[in-house]
Amino acid sequence: MRLSHQERAEIDFVLTLRRRWSDVLYPALRAQYDARAADAPPATRKEAAPVVRALPSYRWFAWMERGAQKMLWRAVSDAVVRHGSARGPVCAPAALELDPALELPDWYTAWDIHVQPGGVWRNDASADIYELGAKLVMLGVNDDYTFHRAFVATAVPPGAYRRIVDLGCGFGKSTWPFKKAFPSAEVIGVDLAAPCLALAAEKAGAQGLAIRFRQADCAATGLEAGSADLVTSTMLIHEMPRPHLAATLREAGRLLAPGGLLRFLDFTWTGDPFRDVAIAEHGARNNEPFMAGSMGADMEALCRAAGLEAVRWVAFDERGRGSLDALAWPARAEWHFPWAVLEARKAA
Ligand SMILES: C[S@@+](CC[C@H](N)C(=O)[O-])C[C@H]1O[C@@H](n2cnc3c(N)ncnc32)[C@H](O)[C@@H]1O
Repeated sequence: MRLSHQERAEIDFVLTLRRRWSDVLYPALRAQYDARAADAPPATRKEAAPVVRALPSYRWFAWMERGAQKMLWRAVSDAVVRHGSARGPVCAPAALELDPALELPDWYTAWDIHVQPGGVWRNDASADIYELGAKLVMLGVNDDYTFHRAFVATAVPPGAYRRIVDLGCGFGKSTWPFKKAFPSAEVIGVDLAAPCLALAAEKAGAQGLAIRFRQADCAATGLEAGSADLVTSTMLIHEMPRPHLAATLREAGRLLAPGGLLRFLDFTWTGDPFRDVAIAEHGARNNEPFMAGSMGADMEALCRAAGLEAVRWVAFDERGRGSLDALAWPARAEWHFPWAVLEARKAA
């Protein structure tokens, strides 16, 4: 899509606003918190929340967080609707498997996730809006899908994978790198959103990538039990209610062959009460109603119940270093997600 100067200017304005929020406002709020909490530091997220909300810059910070997000989707949606959305054909070797009878769960359609009007599932424009918006949400750091490539390169050990299943694959940016890294593997992307899958398959075909994009709930993929050596997801599990998260882990356990690996890139609590309050409130202001609940889930217990072992979270640096092999993040002043990889293995 060739954006006009006006559209580019609108998007640049929102991007700059979001950068100011992340790089200037968030560190200022942190400094206020550190000064206020110096004598009696809150020990938990619950204790820290009222302290954070009473800070002088809090209301401005909170308004800017949601306001800039709404402006972003407005600018992106307007541009996409103005230019129109038309899906091209899905060319071999890519394949698209849609299920017209699939009913989308109520919890999935009830929310405009990430404040994207209409969500990612409604029509062709939803997928195009999501694709353009996703770059901006990442403040420019993922323009070349750097962190998806880093996930594949650093969080997944080299191996002769026969089948890789990417759950919640969206418009394919998490799935394409798997086929590029493991060309002999059968790679399958699964998602509920038909428009995203169509975009994913169109772009996979254009890149010559033999990937099956399949419309299904990731808690009931319909794929054969024990058929996958690797089950992955990126940015999926914080979007689902706790019972669905448990069902998704059970499905991953069912899909994996003995010794097969699970790698889910998502978020986990940092243990820093200020930071964790900011993350929880980000979820609330960003229409991510299940984020705090899924981050608080007992993954060890859920994975064990799914027949998975060797469960651990490791921190992930989305700027390019990727998986850090321990649950410790480098110090950073600006706002950023607590990226982490959930690792587990199907019992042999
Ligand atoms: C934040 S997007 C991430 C997409 C992709 N993994 C990426 O990194 O770009 C989350 C995706 O999960 C999908 N999703 C959410 N719940 C799902 C479910 N129960 N089954 C299948 N897909 C689901 C959404 O439709 C959306 O495309």
